Amino acid sequence: MKKVLVVGGGGREHALVWKLARSKEVGKIFCAPGNAGIAEMAECVDIDASDLHALREFAKYERIDLTVAGPEAPLTRGIVDFFSREGLQVFGPSADAAKLEGSKQFAKDFMRENGIPTAEYKVFSSYVHAEEYVRLKGAPIVVKADGLASGKGVFVCSTVEQAIAALRTIMKERAFGEAGNTVVVEQCLQGEEASFMAISDGEVFLPLASSQDHKRIFDNDEGPNTGGMGAYSPAPLVNEKMTEEVMETVMKPVLRGMKKRGIVFKGVLYAGLMIANGKPYVLEFNVRFGDPEAQPVLMRMKSDLYKVMEGSIQGTLSQMTIDWYDKAAVCVVMAAGGYPGSYEKGKPISGLEQAGSLEDVVVFHAGTGRSGTQVVSSGGRVLGVTALGDTIAAAIERAYKGVVKIHWDGVQYRKDIGARAAKYLAGKA
Ligand code: AMP
Ligand code: GLY
Repeated sequence: MKKVLVVGGGGREHALVWKLARSKEVGKIFCAPGNAGIAEMAECVDIDASDLHALREFAKYERIDLTVAGPEAPLTRGIVDFFSREGLQVFGPSADAAKLEGSKQFAKDFMRENGIPTAEYKVFSSYVHAEEYVRLKGAPIVVKADGLASGKGVFVCSTVEQAIAALRTIMKERAFGEAGNTVVVEQCLQGEEASFMAISDGEVFLPLASSQDHKRIFDNDEGPNTGGMGAYSPAPLVNEKMTEEVMETVMKPVLRGMKKRGIVFKGVLYAGLMIANGKPYVLEFNVRFGDPEAQPVLMRMKSDLYKVMEGSIQGTLSQMTIDWYDKAAVCVVMAAGGYPGSYEKGKPISGLEQAGSLEDVVVFHAGTGRSGTQVVSSGGRVLGVTALGDTIAAAIERAYKGVVKIHWDGVQYRKDIGARAAKYLAGKA
């Protein structure tokens, strides 16, 4: 039986552990650093997800067969290259390939070079020139910090004043540190968003079930952007035809473009899409599973995830398929009061068992820890209550049945996760 190490400690990593635990191949799972929910199905080790040296020592000592890096930080820092040098297998892209997420400028230039549809843009490292350009272009306009900012470095601005304030936040106040040395200013696209994920072995991509997250903090997509307040799968917009279009205009050109640069892309590629006039445009690339998209998508996966990951590393995906349950899944994120701004930690959480015992409901932990025997909050996004249903509407109902059983001081969540999709489908029926 295989030994697996999952790196990270959020809702996505809980979903990865949950799914890998169902594999016939997997005997033992470790998670670094994990959280209170993950601790119930894996052995958590107190190593930071970015501490590559300590992770590699641990993997060698425990003779780990497969390491899965959940978040972007270890990937962009080169965990795959670093482990491979010692013959250790890691699922994910190399540091060079991970630049697709690590640098928005790299991603935009790569897209332009390879004819991948994306918003028109310009890159600046001078505040004065950026402001000049914003005034020239006018609003609406989008301002993005170049580097990693946990999904918070993007400002969709409806006025020039807002855009200038965003430039100040990024470049002068340096709210995201070095990630704000450079900014990308881009055209604001109008349309419907969808997330498209696929797994590659460097030669082919196998698409994952489609999904959609909800980035804004409040109902009706109001308020600031977050890491994601909920997600559902499938996304009705991404039908068979759209899947084919994204494979042809985005995924395949990525592999070709990477090869041209001498880079092999392995692991998950996540394309955040804006579908405008029936055509997909790439808003961003991530090089890992989306969080919270991973929660509903992995709940729907029928195939053995361990085997798929091994296929990605060994280059055998062209001989495989990924199968899905013909059900919908919805994940409602429960967050700390104040998130995505500052928030309090250490709040005791009640109702976890009652919610978790509902049929086809899994309460994935995103930011939890233990204080004695009590599970307490320890992050901004605290839980992802995820449910399966025959339809999106049924999955929504079931997820919220779980949500209302859970409580802590200051808890907030959106009441409209999946509602747009359910309405769209009802309109079509
Ligand atoms: P990103 O992290 O780049 O996906 O951006 C976060 C969110 O900002 C996206 O999910 C979109 O809602 C929005 N966004 C990003 N780029 C654009 C754009 N060019 N036009 C319109 N909205 C955008
Ligand atoms: N939910 C968006 C992301 O994982 O980046």
